Amino acid sequence: MNNASLHIPVLLEETLNALLIEDGEFYIDATFGLGGYSKAILQKNNCKVLAIDRDPEAEIIAAQFKKDFKNRFFFINGNFSEIVKFVKMLEIETVAGITFDLGVSSPQLDQGNRGFSFRLDGPLDMRMSKKGATAEEFINQVEEDTLANIIYELGDEVFSRRIAKNIVRERSAQSITSTAQLASIVRNCVPKINHKIHPATKTFQAIRMYLNDEISELEHGLIAAEKILKPNGMLTVVSFHSIEDRIIKKFFLKCAKNSPTSRYLPDLTYSAHSLKIITKKPILPSEEEILRNKRSRSAKLRVATRTFSPSLYGEVA
Ligand SMILES: C[S@@+](CC[C@H](N)C(=O)[O-])C[C@H]1O[C@@H](n2cnc3c(N)ncnc32)[C@H](O)[C@@H]1O
Repeated sequence: MNNASLHIPVLLEETLNALLIEDGEFYIDATFGLGGYSKAILQKNNCKVLAIDRDPEAEIIAAQFKKDFKNRFFFINGNFSEIVKFVKMLEIETVAGITFDLGVSSPQLDQGNRGFSFRLDGPLDMRMSKKGATAEEFINQVEEDTLANIIYELGDEVFSRRIAKNIVRERSAQSITSTAQLASIVRNCVPKINHKIHPATKTFQAIRMYLNDEISELEHGLIAAEKILKPNGMLTVVSFHSIEDRIIKKFFLKCAKNSPTSRYLPDLTYSAHSLKIITKKPILPSEEEILRNKRSRSAKLRVATRTFSPSLYGEVA
């Protein structure tokens, strides 16, 4: 990951406060990026951090962290849906906190050659892990209807059918190989209604989320987190899209309401819910943070704490 482009951690203070970091405990930073959260956690108290990132470029920053924090910092290059496996590999039983800061980092967006940006020209790549099908392979092969559905569902884009039709027409004349080419196809076929965002924003977001399987990763990451958090352990999730926020909210509610007896036992001495929701409404960035870091404007932080009840999804074997 290119350090030249700085990633300003979003909702950092709020996340740190919610994690209730204590000496001697283990925390997981499921989305290491440039390590903004990990560093703040490690500096706050004498604790340990297992950081995860699917982007192999994160290893460069992680190597420096290993030198700076020695046996308090561990890094795994992989998907956070596999947290349970990683925790077992390190022989950690449970952890006192897990934090997710979803989406892509600024360096990923700001390097044209990663293919995430409609503002910078580059190859159509968009793979966080640099593995699997590229956006170029996808966009030149996918069926029109499937593409339209993806752009509609993951991008909330009302012009999805028109965009998919134009992509398919253009690619029959010439393969689509660059981000600038794709951005221009989209720009030329949607009306200029919303001047605040680039017309290709939603299409790029949808293709990125689809290629990186971000919805399934989030669902499995949350399930894994619920399994390995110790009682009173904290779970914090920062998301940037309404689709993600809805999944997190529903997951929290499902774990918090799995309590058939709680309606009749007000003191909740016997209840089966595995999470307690701390943020009834998500925490949003302050105006000051948005002014300082435009990228934070759509961020939402949700926080829950693990109860003493068994995991809803089965204990770690
Ligand atoms: C918004 S950035 C995190 C920034 C970080 N909090 C910081 O302060 O530097 C999100 C990071 O999560 C990683 N990521 C996204 N989805 C992932 C997944 N399913 N598994 C592992 N890492 C993922 C991305 O590669 C990216 O580096």
